[in-house]
Amino acid sequence: MELSGSTALVTGSTSGIGREVALQLARAGAEVIVSGRSEERGAETVAAIEAEGGKARFVAVDLADLDSVGRLAEAAADVDVLVNNAGVFEFAPTGEQTVPSYDAMFQVNVRAPYFLTASIAPRMVERGRGSIVNISTMASEIGLAGASVYSATKAAVNSLTRTWAAEFGESGVRVNTVSPGPTLTSGASVEMVGPLGETTLLRRHAGVEEIAGAVVFLASPRAGYVTGANLPVDGGRLVA
Ligand SMILES: NC(=O)c1ccc[n+]([C@@H]2O[C@H](COP(=O)([O-])OP(=O)(O)OC[C@H]3O[C@@H](n4cnc5c(N)ncnc54)[C@H](OP(=O)(O)O)[C@@H]3O)[C@@H](O)[C@H]2O)c1
Repeated sequence: MELSGSTALVTGSTSGIGREVALQLARAGAEVIVSGRSEERGAETVAAIEAEGGKARFVAVDLADLDSVGRLAEAAADVDVLVNNAGVFEFAPTGEQTVPSYDAMFQVNVRAPYFLTASIAPRMVERGRGSIVNISTMASEIGLAGASVYSATKAAVNSLTRTWAAEFGESGVRVNTVSPGPTLTSGASVEMVGPLGETTLLRRHAGVEEIAGAVVFLASPRAGYVTGANLPVDGGRLVA
């Protein structure tokens, strides 16, 4: 129970990787704020945490809307752990990229975590402790045809991690990135992650628990001297 007595906000924890991160943080003793747009899936994640004896509550948010982001930041003002996980991934050849899809990816993947962190991190700085984990992707470091906008948003996230680690480090607040490889979730079907998994050194896609384990490690005191890092959890794809 290395996180007992602490609180955590996980964006996009109504499904997929974020849901599993919320479950694992709660198992480690954290009280978790589950968030997303879906009240129904939010309630289901909270119920799953409570069924294991953990503590959680749901705060609805639309991360494409800055007012909504502001309300989430107020509701989660004093968390010890912030996991910027929610993400939109829409793929298109560059010549066919639409403006609404471009805007949605930058709003949810970059603008929302930026302003959420801008509200929450200064409170961590005041208290002299806190851990922020940003979820990126292996596609931020490799050329993946059709993923131009998505990869660019996550490359921005990688950059934010480095800047924030520099800004908040002297106050004891750590900021790191986890870059997952292909991971089976409700947003990433087996048709999508299966062939990508074959391109990794491990020749398979990941399960959500393998990504969440890395996130919880970086959030925890076990990673107390780790900041500014980008941890690939991608079956070795970056070195393949
Ligand atoms: N799966 C992969 O292969 C993979 C690989 C590399 C990186 N990643 C990254 O890992 C993260 C999670 O991916 P995933 O596969 O677990 O995705 P997922 O199953 O599609 O879940 C996405 C989560 O983000 C939330 N979300 C999306 N748009 C939102 C919005 N406008 N406002 C609030 N919440 C929103 C969703 O909640 P609601 O539906 O309730 O709004 C949901 O909880 C993303 O950042 C993704 O880029 C995934």
